Amino acid sequence: MKPSALTHLVCLSCLSDLKLADGQTLDSNHAEEIYAGTLSCTACSREYKIIRGVPRFVDETESSATDIRTGASFAEAWKRFPMMDERYQKQFFDWIFPVDPEFVKDKVVLECGCGKGRHAKLMQEAGVNAIFAVDIGEAIDVAYENIGFLPGIHLIQADIEKLPFRREFDFAFSVGVLHHMESPISGFLSMSAKVKPTGAVTAWVYGRESNWWLIGIINPIRMLVTSKMPSSLLLPVAASLAFPLELYCKFVARPWMNLRQTNKWIPPLFYGEYLNYISQFGFTELHHIVFDHLIAPVAYYVPRAYFASWFKTAGWSDCVVRWHNRNSWSGFSSGNLEELELMRSRVKDVTDSYLGASTARATDRQESPEK
Ligand SMILES: C[S@@+](CC[C@H](N)C(=O)[O-])C[C@H]1O[C@@H](n2cnc3c(N)ncnc32)[C@H](O)[C@@H]1O
Ligand SMILES: [Zn+2]
Repeated sequence: MKPSALTHLVCLSCLSDLKLADGQTLDSNHAEEIYAGTLSCTACSREYKIIRGVPRFVDETESSATDIRTGASFAEAWKRFPMMDERYQKQFFDWIFPVDPEFVKDKVVLECGCGKGRHAKLMQEAGVNAIFAVDIGEAIDVAYENIGFLPGIHLIQADIEKLPFRREFDFAFSVGVLHHMESPISGFLSMSAKVKPTGAVTAWVYGRESNWWLIGIINPIRMLVTSKMPSSLLLPVAASLAFPLELYCKFVARPWMNLRQTNKWIPPLFYGEYLNYISQFGFTELHHIVFDHLIAPVAYYVPRAYFASWFKTAGWSDCVVRWHNRNSWSGFSSGNLEELELMRSRVKDVTDSYLGASTARATDRQESPEK
């Protein structure tokens, strides 16, 4: 933990400032990094430990047992797949488009559910003022190993529903997390509540639309069988699925989608956009993707209209919702209405060029039920 984090962290019980007691650094090479110690509330008796460099704000008796279990399952995944990959950059900014590196520059940013820290690192490279990345489970230790010592990055073990911050962020985001929470909308509301009124927010979630096979076939298997398997057993199971998946992506989906770009008569391939998208990765990443899907105790598939309603409920005046790879929803809003309109036009431009102008106009109307 960097001492500068102290000016942002507050007590979960009374929102008062915290002070550091008995802080210890790791060694003389990392004199700026507090590796162990205690944060104590300046107004009440509550204390929070700093363990292995990370302030710990999760109290298992106060969080949802389901979310704690989810955090433990994902920690297994991140411990087994801790690697960083340069292709994450494009993937990340595709997920959160219309947000781009320029947008986040100099901002104080909150990431909800950071996993192994791959996106916090990309935010830091994009030039944010500071990024606070939280995760409920021991994924935060994997993130700390990967990026904990980098300047401007603050890793905190916390539950999205109990965030130890004031309403002070310029931008908050959550990628691939809220649909794994016991109450996704509560997670979104809690994240939004930490953003300044003129700030912005982005979330990416699994979509209900187009995912009937995941909901009807894979979900019951995941809930009843695979999420309960020990990870040492799930690992080879996931590998045996990832191998044919890789072959299919590389030798069917990618060539099919390429041919379709120039030969419009070729019919769409089921799940083609997504399979083509993940075909850029090698076996290890696909193994991780399959493992991740199978180990999650909870996965909601969120209908578009319901997703858009979260923004309204959180008090955002409007939102821009984009269908990503035809299987998930990416939503953006901002308290700055000019900024929101700029982002809306960016999404519309991309949708227009992707679908062709006539279809795009119809889709644009459908995809903006708030209008
Ligand atoms: C699928 S992973 C995505 C991680 C990261 N956003 C990424 O894309 O690399 C979901 C992460 O959210 C975390 N998570 C789930 N529920 C949470 C909660 N209530 N509070 C904080 N983190 C949570 C999990 O521990 C897990 O690391
Ligand atoms: Zn307190």
